[in-house]
Amino acid sequence: GAAVPDARYRPVIHYSPANGFMNDPNGLILADGIYHLYYQHNPGAPVSGNVHWGHATSRDLIHWQEQALALFPDARGQAFSGAMVWDGANTSGLFPDGQGGMAALFTRAGPGRQVQELAHVQTQSPRLALYKGNPVLDEQSASFRDPKVFWHDPIQRWVMVVAHARRHEIGFYHSTNLRDWRHTGSFGHAGLLGLDYECPDLVELPVEGGSSRWVLFLSINPGAPTGGSTVQYFVGHFDGLGFTAQDQATRLLDAGQDFYALQTFANTPGRVLGMAWMNNWLYCNATPAHPARGAMTLPRELSLRRRDDHWHIVQRLPDLSPWAAEAGQELSWHDATSGTLACQSWSDLHALEITASGRLSPDSRLRIRLTNRQGECLEAGLDNGSYPGFYLDRSNVRGFEHPFWNHKAIIQVLHTPLPHFDCQIVIDQSSIELLGMQGENAATFLHFFKYPPEQLSVQLENGHWQDGKLRIRPIG
Ligand code: FRU
Repeated sequence: GAAVPDARYRPVIHYSPANGFMNDPNGLILADGIYHLYYQHNPGAPVSGNVHWGHATSRDLIHWQEQALALFPDARGQAFSGAMVWDGANTSGLFPDGQGGMAALFTRAGPGRQVQELAHVQTQSPRLALYKGNPVLDEQSASFRDPKVFWHDPIQRWVMVVAHARRHEIGFYHSTNLRDWRHTGSFGHAGLLGLDYECPDLVELPVEGGSSRWVLFLSINPGAPTGGSTVQYFVGHFDGLGFTAQDQATRLLDAGQDFYALQTFANTPGRVLGMAWMNNWLYCNATPAHPARGAMTLPRELSLRRRDDHWHIVQRLPDLSPWAAEAGQELSWHDATSGTLACQSWSDLHALEITASGRLSPDSRLRIRLTNRQGECLEAGLDNGSYPGFYLDRSNVRGFEHPFWNHKAIIQVLHTPLPHFDCQIVIDQSSIELLGMQGENAATFLHFFKYPPEQLSVQLENGHWQDGKLRIRPIG
């Protein structure tokens, strides 16, 4: 049935606009100590369409201030996804003499035609000023979108990656001035195809212990093995012209159903930070509104790990200590046996962060459950059977149902037997994010309780939990 707006679902530490609909993060950039988050936004109604660029700013990546709208639909089409760059040397000539500034490349999506346009941030107005010579890139295509642009020092040029969505191809383009673009390479027909390739992003990720590797992130929708929208990535080489994957593997960034359109921040030297839209095109127009629909994930710092001759993306959440509302509970033990190890009451004012580590005996199960008297239960856990795995389970949370709403996410831990484990879980008013095994495993889910959640409990079933550490604290 039609969802009734309910303020209880508004996230506490995740960005969501005051009203309307939000999807992809766009134009992520750090400039003058301020993080900018632009995003796909329908300001008029909590349903997709009528696409503008909304805008929010933050100094800490946790507290966001909503700003005025930045890009608008016009006679040529809607303002689809894109990226922001710091044009410090004024290569574009869009800024006053001797000054640099922020410039956006984005898709203007008209009926039957998608082209790339250029705009820049003006000092006097929140609105981005459109370049007079738009479009800057037109391949006469109806599905050509989501440019991500970066400056590549070795060739002294801007590089654009952009999706030929239906053709399942990523195009690479060069420019010296952000206005004239030349095609230099293609990558495609790789990994999961789905109906459309969307939102490519190419970044050089630091490898733990030194060196770096290029990673191409690529969103597909629909067609994910997890149902609908998902983000895959390829590890490989970028020679300045195009990208080559170094193996045939398809890797997913997140095992949950609500993680899409990842984009990384521009202008954060030495660090790669990304954010994704915490939703799925299969049901994003039907989830309960608060009254807005759509939220971003927490920012995640990205790197690569080489383990057992394989590449793994490592994701880390920011240290939430500065926003801990109370000390919470901090427990540790040498050996705990089956039973309830901790309880914490839930508050609508806070998110909860749970961190746990230690060694679990074979066939034991760690269960972290958020429940209420009406019998609803949101669960995260680690099952140490013969194929150990983290899981999320929202099957007993009853505020939203949809035929494509998957109830469980499973991330198999690909080490056997399970060594020392660790995980960090953040539960906000309508989301749960789990990172495990030093950031190698990730799963993100939305959840909508019908009745208010009341209590979080941590239980061990069927075995021992040794060298245990457990911390539960309210955040926000
Ligand atoms: C991805 C996407 C992009 C497009 C935008 C439209 O979620 O479909 O391909 O630019 O959303 O809002």
